[in-house]
Amino acid sequence: MAERSFRREQPNRPATAPKRPQARGSGNHVIEFRGVSKVYEGGDVGLDQATFAIERGEFVFLVGHTGSGKSTIMRLLIKEADASAGSVRVAGRDLSEIPRKRVPYYRRNIGVVWQDFKLLPNRTVYDNVAYALQVTGRSRREIRQKVPDILRLTGLATKLHNYPDQLSGGEQQRVSIARAFVNHPPLLLCDEPTGNLDPETSIGIMQLLYRINRTGTTVLVATHDHAMVDKMRRRVIELAEGRVVRDEAAGLYTRDETTREFAARMRGAVADPALDPAARGTRHVRERGRTGSN
Ligand SMILES: Nc1ncnc2c1ncn2[C@@H]1O[C@H](COP(=O)(O)OP(=O)(O)O)[C@@H](O)[C@H]1O
Ligand SMILES: [Mg+2]
Repeated sequence: MAERSFRREQPNRPATAPKRPQARGSGNHVIEFRGVSKVYEGGDVGLDQATFAIERGEFVFLVGHTGSGKSTIMRLLIKEADASAGSVRVAGRDLSEIPRKRVPYYRRNIGVVWQDFKLLPNRTVYDNVAYALQVTGRSRREIRQKVPDILRLTGLATKLHNYPDQLSGGEQQRVSIARAFVNHPPLLLCDEPTGNLDPETSIGIMQLLYRINRTGTTVLVATHDHAMVDKMRRRVIELAEGRVVRDEAAGLYTRDETTREFAARMRGAVADPALDPAARGTRHVRERGRTGSN
């Protein structure tokens, strides 16, 4: 993949020419790790020469045992940590070139979802999400318009005035996804988003992430939930002791699956519109213009 993009960037270069460092990464890669190592203070190895690239619009799982380096990748991507060697690029930009004081602006392009939700306990659902817009200087009018929209998308329209401790775990995670996505960032990072949730609730969360991905947002999900990953049939990058040991697009990857078909498949039901009155008659429309139940 790197080889191909290298040639695209420099069309007059012979394919056999030795590789030289690029000024910028490939235009299509949202994320590009090249030989990235991370050694923490004290000598713990977080990543060991990891190389992979993720294209715009992909949905990718990052899997591996505890301690394999998944969260390290997330931390490098939001510049909470810096690589010890190699280069990390996001949208073609080498993160080592971003000055400390520009980091908050850089982070506005990335939504982040954590296993433990990280909601503000003394604020309502509405205010938790509104806060994400306030800190980026959005007008009150814009906030009043955007927050209800995103809460509808995430299935929280009736929970506006609840506090986090008045919500289930799944609902709290929906709030944190709403907060991460309300600015419509091009990249959404989720570190063990279903780690505290039961399987049925987890499917709902994955369905929501899938819906977000279908709007064009690149989604990277770290998880060790193998059952979920197998069902999703999406690209999987596997880490072991900081190394990339597997990188494959699942065989039955279907980009055109609707959210409804996706959910039915995840739950093991037959995704046949003929059996689903709500979906009947929308198939034709969806296949032409995908204007159905997205
Ligand atoms: N802040 C840190 N300081 C020292 N070592 C760390 C730190 N964070 C992670 N590590 C080490 O880096 C390795 C990878 O950790 P991590 O990226 O958190 O893995 P995962 O998210 O896959 O469980 C582990 O050996 C861990 O102990
Ligand atoms: Mg982790």
